[in-house]
Amino acid sequence: MLMIQPFSLSDLESILQIENQSFPKSPYDWITFLNLHYLYRETFWVYINTSHGQKEEKILGYIIFSQDGHIISIAVHPHHRRKGIAKELLQRAMKASHLQRVWAEVRTSNQGAQAFYSKMGFRVTGMVPNYYGNEDALIIQWISGTDDSY
Ligand SMILES: CC(C)(COP(=O)(O)OP(=O)(O)OC[C@H]1O[C@@H](n2cnc3c(N)ncnc32)[C@H](O)[C@@H]1OP(=O)(O)O)[C@@H](O)C(=O)NCCC(=O)NCCS
Repeated sequence: MLMIQPFSLSDLESILQIENQSFPKSPYDWITFLNLHYLYRETFWVYINTSHGQKEEKILGYIIFSQDGHIISIAVHPHHRRKGIAKELLQRAMKASHLQRVWAEVRTSNQGAQAFYSKMGFRVTGMVPNYYGNEDALIIQWISGTDDSY
């Protein structure tokens, strides 16, 4: 069974593996995830496949967002991409919080994420030079009622 549930500390190792493969240039480390767990206890979710039984629960992805609509991070295990997992995580987050505005930062080189957010109805609204040290960030934003693709 596939389900979305709040992050718990036992998920940390799997999350770190997804993180290292998803953000090789600047992965969050375990301390950062513990801080994010503390800060976003209600809105740090994991996407789990429980079909092989409780002991073999498999984390396929995660999302961390703030109640005011900032996507802190979203990532899906490379083996499980293009199956709608990120879409489900993001849509669930937007519905749960009744968000009117959602935004995120994306590396200018991260074309996969840009295509994903574009498909979800986000538009580029700005750019922050050197946000990632030696790389700029695009600010992408979705506003309720201005789009029909979400
Ligand atoms: C971006 C990311 C989260 C997307 O996760 P995903 O589960 O594969 O995305 P979905 O399957 O829900 O994609 C929904 C739609 O978005 C678009 N999309 C997603 N990834 C895409 C890609 N790499 N290239 C082009 N379009 C893409 C497609 O239209 C897709 O629908 P389709 O597969 O029916 O064509 C995933 O690629 C990832 O973890 N990347 C590394 C981490 C990252 O960059 N995170 C975002 C920055 S914070």
